[in-house]
Amino acid sequence: MKKVIMDCDPGHDDMVAIMLAIADEDIDLLGITTVAGNQTGDKTFRNALRILTLLNRKDIPVARGFDKPLVRELKTAPAFHGVSGLDGADLPEPEVTPLKKHAVDFITDTLMKSDGGIYLVPTGPLTNVAVALLKEPRIKEKIERIVLMGGGVFDSNTTPAAEFNFYVDPEAAKIVFESGVPITMVGLDVTDKAIFSFEDIDRLGGFGGKVSSVVAPLLRFFGNANKEIYGFDGAPLHDALALSVLINPNVVKTRFLHVDIETKGEFTRGESVADVYGITGKAPNAEVAMDLDLPLFKEIVFSHIRKLDESMAD
Ligand code: BDR
Ligand code: CA
Repeated sequence: MKKVIMDCDPGHDDMVAIMLAIADEDIDLLGITTVAGNQTGDKTFRNALRILTLLNRKDIPVARGFDKPLVRELKTAPAFHGVSGLDGADLPEPEVTPLKKHAVDFITDTLMKSDGGIYLVPTGPLTNVAVALLKEPRIKEKIERIVLMGGGVFDSNTTPAAEFNFYVDPEAAKIVFESGVPITMVGLDVTDKAIFSFEDIDRLGGFGGKVSSVVAPLLRFFGNANKEIYGFDGAPLHDALALSVLINPNVVKTRFLHVDIETKGEFTRGESVADVYGITGKAPNAEVAMDLDLPLFKEIVFSHIRKLDESMAD
């Protein structure tokens, strides 16, 4: 069993990542922490609770984290995720009781009380994770690996230089990349290709189960937004691809590179500067996903959502 803590800002693709983690029989989801990103902190937190309510997993601990990045003003992404952060279908009202604990404390306490070997999967701005690393540096020995969605070597989506999660909180991303913890960076080079096409979405909707019938219209909303803004033929499931790496590492091919995060640039705030040619001589600090197996990824999504449908059938 892989022990996993997810730190996220749901968000359509974060939602699918949560669903994969819950459905997978080899993942033990220790908890979910939320952060402001795709929407405000109150909305991403509420969305996490609504997702768990839909899945009837009231037992999974949820802790709310920061409402804004370390030093910058929050930028949200309503054009992609809507005013609620999860527009496109109605999720149930939250019936999950969250922890009365800050996300950072949940992360540090859970790690420090453990024997280690825990994976952190951040799929939003890295604010909570950065503060956890600063607050209790001994957690570094307890983290097996940080498998995150963010950045891009040759691709960007928020400015010509930067991906959303790193753009929103570049200082936090810098802290994480300089932490010395093993990192797998699943960035836009692969996640922009992890597209669940409109045909795939129709197929998923055709399952007709309790989960798939909510997920399909949500992904249609997200796909339409991505089609309008970037011309994509469907929904890029960024965060779900990052989580899939824990389910089957063959879903991406990585290169071990040195990655710096730009925090000062006039045009390049939040850019992940990857040394693909080894020019700097700096030691690599991240396994960077450069290629993906799209059919395998789609199969993971279909099979795991089907499993959730089956587990909820009455
Ligand atoms: C990332 O930004 C968010 O909008 C998505 O949820 C994903 O984590 C993609 O750049
Ligand atoms: Ca996200």
